Amino acid sequence: MSFDTTEHNRQRFCFDGIESVWLFGYGSLIYKVDFPFLEQRPATIEGWVRRFWQGSHDHRGTPEAPGRVVTLVEQPGARCKGMAYRIAPAVFEQLDVREKNGYLRFATDLIFDDESRAEGLVYIATEDNAAFLGPAHDSDIARQIAVSCGPSGRNDEYLLKLAEALRHLGDDDPHVFAIESAIESAIESAIKGAIEGFQS
Ligand code: SIN
Repeated sequence: MSFDTTEHNRQRFCFDGIESVWLFGYGSLIYKVDFPFLEQRPATIEGWVRRFWQGSHDHRGTPEAPGRVVTLVEQPGARCKGMAYRIAPAVFEQLDVREKNGYLRFATDLIFDDESRAEGLVYIATEDNAAFLGPAHDSDIARQIAVSCGPSGRNDEYLLKLAEALRHLGDDDPHVFAIESAIESAIESAIKGAIEGFQS
């Protein structure tokens, strides 16, 4: 599949006669809410885990030096916590452009914190998209995130804001928090190295 999924997404669902749709956000859509919504509720989806396995050529990296952003990977029994937004279908015009680097919209069941449920959509970058990077060791992912930067800013800002937002939601995501710790240690040792270099 090509890098730009905008057209694929436009053809995927027909929203005729539909006033609003639930969208589940699990990455930057949790903390960077630059789109209009009618309602916002914390929610969970089942059978998926969040992973920093998707390359970012257009937001937190460049085609020559991609950053890493999150996608969802199927894992039976897993639960992924995020934020659901009830939006007007027209909002997908702008969201499809924002999520164009490999993400496709899929239908999913949402479970809200009061255990009520609704059908919604979620953007997932599957492993057959051209920007998919796949698994790597936490420390390698952290190193790549620490040095990457793109038109939307630094890649480590994406990670740190996501970790903060997940804490705020009361989520314990070992993958995200392990990479956050690895980045913090890398920053600490870089500062220590700079101080030692200055003192010698
Ligand atoms: C999402 O947040 O739901 C999709 C991935 C991203 O934009 O970071």
